Amino acid sequence: MVTVSHIALVTALGTLGLISALPPRIRTAQVDQGASGKPFNGRATLRQVSRPNYRLNGARAVYQAYLKYGAPVPDHLLRAVAYTDSLNAAAASAGAKRDTGSAPANPVNPEYDQAYITPVTIGTPPQTLDLDFDTGSSDLWVFSSLQPTSEVEGRQFYSPDASATSEQLDGQTFSIEYAEGSGARGVVYTDYVTVGELTVQGQAVEAAEHVSGTITDEKNIHGLLGLGFSEINTVTPERQLTFFDSALPNLDEPVFAADLKAGKAGTYDFGFIDEDKYTGEIAYTAVDPTQGFWNFTSSGYGVGTGDFSESQIKGIADTGGSLLFLPTQVVTEYYSQVENATTDAEYGGYVFPCDAALPPFVFGIESARFTIPPAYMIYGHVYSGSQICFGGLQDGSAMGEAGSIWGTAALRAVYVVFNGTSPPAIGFANKPLE
Ligand SMILES: *[C@@H]1O[C@H](CO)[C@@H](O)[C@H](O)[C@H]1NC(C)=O
Ligand SMILES: *[C@@H]1O[C@H](CO)[C@@H](O)[C@H](O)[C@H]1NC(C)=O
Ligand SMILES: *[C@@H]1O[C@H](CO)[C@@H](O)[C@H](O)[C@H]1NC(C)=O
Repeated sequence: MVTVSHIALVTALGTLGLISALPPRIRTAQVDQGASGKPFNGRATLRQVSRPNYRLNGARAVYQAYLKYGAPVPDHLLRAVAYTDSLNAAAASAGAKRDTGSAPANPVNPEYDQAYITPVTIGTPPQTLDLDFDTGSSDLWVFSSLQPTSEVEGRQFYSPDASATSEQLDGQTFSIEYAEGSGARGVVYTDYVTVGELTVQGQAVEAAEHVSGTITDEKNIHGLLGLGFSEINTVTPERQLTFFDSALPNLDEPVFAADLKAGKAGTYDFGFIDEDKYTGEIAYTAVDPTQGFWNFTSSGYGVGTGDFSESQIKGIADTGGSLLFLPTQVVTEYYSQVENATTDAEYGGYVFPCDAALPPFVFGIESARFTIPPAYMIYGHVYSGSQICFGGLQDGSAMGEAGSIWGTAALRAVYVVFNGTSPPAIGFANKPLE
């Protein structure tokens, strides 16, 4: 998805040794017990909003995943990003010209060209920022008034000075570095953070002082709300709790759930599971949180109506990533069933004609089976107006030994429960798909 969401991890991974060597002095946040006179809400639902004028770019999504998980970025991928960006820009200016004339712009299936963000309020009075909810990282960091004006132009940003409830945490800083000269660094405040009806007081809010590189390309995102485990929070010298961990003691149940959608805004539920959002039973499997991620093991896969192959596929659930990265063998098997699918260096990954018949993809969680329908296996057009489409499923071999990443391409086909009990677990359930 967006560059911003992928920064935290690289540093997180790099400094993990350092962080775990520190004594676990985690600040406790207080949850609002009714400053507004209302009783505390132990649950909340938050709806996403659609990102205005956002242009999906498959090559860029692959590139961002490589950065996020510290995989070496091959030159051909960099070229593919530049190439597809330039084709998108050309299509956009051609479209603008057509709009002033009489011919309508080439219609593009809007379903493939939308992305979503989640509005959160910070401070008193509340400042609204659209954040990327990211189970693949553990920092809540935002663009802020501490940055040079040129860096925040055209975006929402957090102004700690304009909040009566902000307090700077002395001596605490964060620094998130990518390869490719991308990164963010800044200082840390505590403030009220409200997600839906749920307010956490004293939540660590990491305010950027400087942001550089590819993060600045994306104008619709104003920061990130990490929902990974607090152990990989990057604040030093005292790492801070994620929003979920801060809210945890006061939630009705120690869970959050993602109901992401294809082609429309989804929701996040905190503190409860919404039985209206799924059908059948929730299939749970164990999570290994030792690396700070929602790592789980899928019990296997199937392509179309073919046999289900039992195999242990380790990977992480990443709501901040858009693609599904699986082992080479699985991906090759899938695309062998798609007419004229190729792995195309020019476009940065597996592509196929947009009208190709795609098989559904089946994955296992313990003995349960879940199906990602064909339309969900398309990420988007390789560039605006193209008849070639970029696959939602891509080769994960560069991501390392346990390198499967379950981004929204997969997660939007199911209701996903992140259960923060100790030990944690992840649950998947079927839901009606349009
Ligand atoms: C696959 O490619 C062949 C040769 O270019 C073409 O004739 C055929 O129509 C293509 N199939 C699809 C589904 O695009
Ligand atoms: C967790 O997932 C990450 C990313 O896929 C991977 O690098 C790591 O090895 C996994 N860890 C475990 C314990 O499975
Ligand atoms: C979370 O997991 C625990 C332990 O497996 C289980 O008892 C509990 O019911 C789960 N909570 C929800 C809301 O599913």
